[in-house]
Amino acid sequence: MAKLELINLNKTYDPKTIPVKDLSLTVADNEFLTLVGPSGCGKSTILRLISGLEQPTRGEVRIGDQPVTNVGAGDRNIAMVFQSYALYPHMNVFDNMASSLKLRKINTSEIKQRVEDTAKLLGLEKLLDRKPGKLSGGQRQRVALGRALVRNPDVFLLDEPLSNLDALLREQVRADLKQIFAKQNAPVVYVTHDQVEAMTLSSRVAVLNDGILQQLDAPPNIYAHPANRFVAGFIGSPQMNLFTLNCEGDRALLGDVKIPLPGGFAPPPEIDLGIRPEHVSIASSSDHAAESTGETNNSVKVQGRIFLVENLGMSNLLSVNVQGANNSEHIIRALLPVEQTWDGEEITLSLAIDKLHWFHAQTGEAIGSV
Ligand SMILES: Nc1ncnc2c1ncn2[C@@H]1O[C@H](COP(=O)(O)OP(=O)(O)O)[C@@H](O)[C@H]1O
Ligand SMILES: [Mg+2]
Repeated sequence: MAKLELINLNKTYDPKTIPVKDLSLTVADNEFLTLVGPSGCGKSTILRLISGLEQPTRGEVRIGDQPVTNVGAGDRNIAMVFQSYALYPHMNVFDNMASSLKLRKINTSEIKQRVEDTAKLLGLEKLLDRKPGKLSGGQRQRVALGRALVRNPDVFLLDEPLSNLDALLREQVRADLKQIFAKQNAPVVYVTHDQVEAMTLSSRVAVLNDGILQQLDAPPNIYAHPANRFVAGFIGSPQMNLFTLNCEGDRALLGDVKIPLPGGFAPPPEIDLGIRPEHVSIASSSDHAAESTGETNNSVKVQGRIFLVENLGMSNLLSVNVQGANNSEHIIRALLPVEQTWDGEEITLSLAIDKLHWFHAQTGEAIGSV
């Protein structure tokens, strides 16, 4: 099977709309790569460039070391699954799944075999005679997937295929997708705006914003080491706490609290600090001795006032006001196990120093290693 390569790919619609800027990446033949980013960042455009439905302004698409940029969409052996499913309403499930094989003049007995095998994989074997109008959303989605799988394509492209499913079904199908594609030997490029889908399904995730690749890495690395402030804020739910602080020497100032900056760079006048809500805790009473300095060896203590508690089932999300510079206020959100209790609204938060993320206030690029 063949890898997929995008080399300096660019697409410009007009000088103001450049949905793909200098994109280079390789998807291995057994890899599940997800493109994730906010709506309008260029994800679908990238899939259309790979499939041949659109031509790049510059750059190249290669499948298995062969340039395909000048090969028409019909002659690239690529299967695409859309959010809308795009099933033929007048055909039953069997014929929907068989349609591309018939076009390729594959013999009838092989078509039957391939459709039946794929239907079994997807739990559709009892529905082969039904028309799409008599199927649930989840079943239609499986038929659309089946139509792609049955082809044995060189590349799979999936554009937000779960977006039309309700939350419970989405979770179920997400798990099925992971198992089904683990058995395929073709590159998969999966598009979603949902970071949970991206993190759970993929071997690697490409985070995009404004047509530009922000970071490409395995999900745990993206989560632990976001390359910039955009990725830090986009990946992770509840979202990372992020704020801009003034610096004084080798400390950043959060109100009266001085937080040590990472070493190895000249402290700027301002810096952005990030910490995920699950790395913020309530300081225990034995920590109170450290409150006067605001800092112990491995954590920073910050006084605050709780103004909102959201129960998420297995955890509570606390929103806490803390004092910033010049009478300003910051909101820090803390994710606590639901069993944890606290006394009153005035609390001391503990921020784990080794879990702090630092970003250039101007460029947003990550500073130091966390
Ligand atoms: N055919 C087109 N002509 C002009 N602009 C387009 C066209 N298709 C998409 N765009 C624009 O390109 C940008 C990226 O679109 P798209 O790739 O669909 O984003 P996504 O799939 O990430 O939501 C958007 O600003 C969109 O409005
Ligand atoms: Mg899209």
